[in-house]
Amino acid sequence: MADVHIVVLAAGKGTRMKSALPKVLHRAGGLPLIEHVFRAADTLSPRSTTVIVGHHAEAVQTALHERLGLLFAKQEPQLGTGHALLQSEPMLRGRQGSVVLLSGDVPLLRPTTLEELVRVHTERGAAATVLTAVVDDPRGYGRIVRDERGRIIAIVEHKDASPEQQRIPEINSGIYVFDLPPLFGALRAIGASNAQGEYYLPDLVAIYRSRGLLVETVVARDSREILGVNSRRELADVTGILKTSRNEGLMEAGVTIVDPATTFIGPDVSIAPDTTIHPGVYLEGQTVVGTGCVIHSGVRIVDSRVDDDVIINNFCVIVESHISRGARLGPFAHIRPQSVVGEDAHVGNFVELKKTTLGRGSKANHLSYLGDATIGDKVNVGAGTITCNYDGVAKHPTVIEDGAFIGSDSQLVAPVRVGRGAYVAAGSSITEDVPPGSLAIARGRQTNKEGWVSRKKNR
Ligand code: UD1
Ligand code: CA
Repeated sequence: MADVHIVVLAAGKGTRMKSALPKVLHRAGGLPLIEHVFRAADTLSPRSTTVIVGHHAEAVQTALHERLGLLFAKQEPQLGTGHALLQSEPMLRGRQGSVVLLSGDVPLLRPTTLEELVRVHTERGAAATVLTAVVDDPRGYGRIVRDERGRIIAIVEHKDASPEQQRIPEINSGIYVFDLPPLFGALRAIGASNAQGEYYLPDLVAIYRSRGLLVETVVARDSREILGVNSRRELADVTGILKTSRNEGLMEAGVTIVDPATTFIGPDVSIAPDTTIHPGVYLEGQTVVGTGCVIHSGVRIVDSRVDDDVIINNFCVIVESHISRGARLGPFAHIRPQSVVGEDAHVGNFVELKKTTLGRGSKANHLSYLGDATIGDKVNVGAGTITCNYDGVAKHPTVIEDGAFIGSDSQLVAPVRVGRGAYVAAGSSITEDVPPGSLAIARGRQTNKEGWVSRKKNR
């Protein structure tokens, strides 16, 4: 196949979003809008990808730094889509093949549609091929004007369309393939005498036709694919469509989703069959969930691994951590980055783990903070236990060896180690290491003053 180059338009202001954030960086379905566009484009194995930036150019470039090899062209000022594409000329000079032009704000485009667009373009030997769609409500879009033989002759923007043209239901998606050789010369021929005083890229169609160049069209099978995001309302529409198709795919693959309407699962999350997801769950980033798990309502999991047969009760937050097979969490557990919950371990309500490993079969069931701690197997961490890991300057580690028992309401002042099988009496403030097999008591002794109450009353 001939070389394919990608150009993504992302210089516009996005006025209708009423946002300080550039439009293409708004997120839907777990990714910035423009990332959806890149992913669709990836299937074409492009030779180069150029992003046209303008409004908030630096913010867009910074946000995309992880996508290696992207080229950026700045459009300043923004004089319209035709002018925008012209800015990619330095990147594409001397290159072969064709350009696929995409919009950073059209995130639902499917890879198969793009492949078909390029295939039709190549097979028919067209100079330009336009992706179109037939929609119920064409307002705002450019209309596809065809001659009596059905060939495209022009695209007319809504604001420039006659009443008759406004009734045309076939619209321009803003996605095109152009052969490189005639492109930049023709772009310079575009004028700006139209309702918006802009250099309209769609005017290329009429210019190509007048120069005898072949222009083809492909009609998108599902017109929702070419939905552009111009407002928060459309952002929510797109979010809903992405959510529905993601959930349908997972259910198809054997995952039970109790209420797909309120379940948000990112594109890079994987879930094995026979796991049940209750309403209001968010699974984000590179999260992996095994089989036989139950994730109850209100749980949010980010960039984490959850092995098989794990039960996560309501309202837990888990970030960058690993939950091992058979563990039980929550309700209301907070598992912060770099934590590991061991096999069959229990982490109960109002327990926070940070950079902490809880060994196999260990339990921290109630009201605890465990930070920078390495906790062995079969350890019982009593209610209200706190690792005092921070001295105001640095963080210090706590080690609790296998089989230890930490009585309720204890503080472990780090750095400190509780040896294998040792006991810490309830209410202790442990400041020194506890040898294996011993009992540490570190609290004031109790004195009972008998008869004190009646003596006080008689006074
Ligand atoms: C455009 C098309 C219209 C089509 C619609 C599909 C034009 C003139 N009209 O209209 O036929 O039906 O898309 O969604 O092309 N941009 C720049 N620089 C600019 C102007 C725009 O980079 O100077 C970018 C925007 O950031 C956006 C894209 O181009 O990503 C489209 O611009 P937008 O203003 O949204 O065009 P529409 O009015 O939607
Ligand atoms: Ca648009």
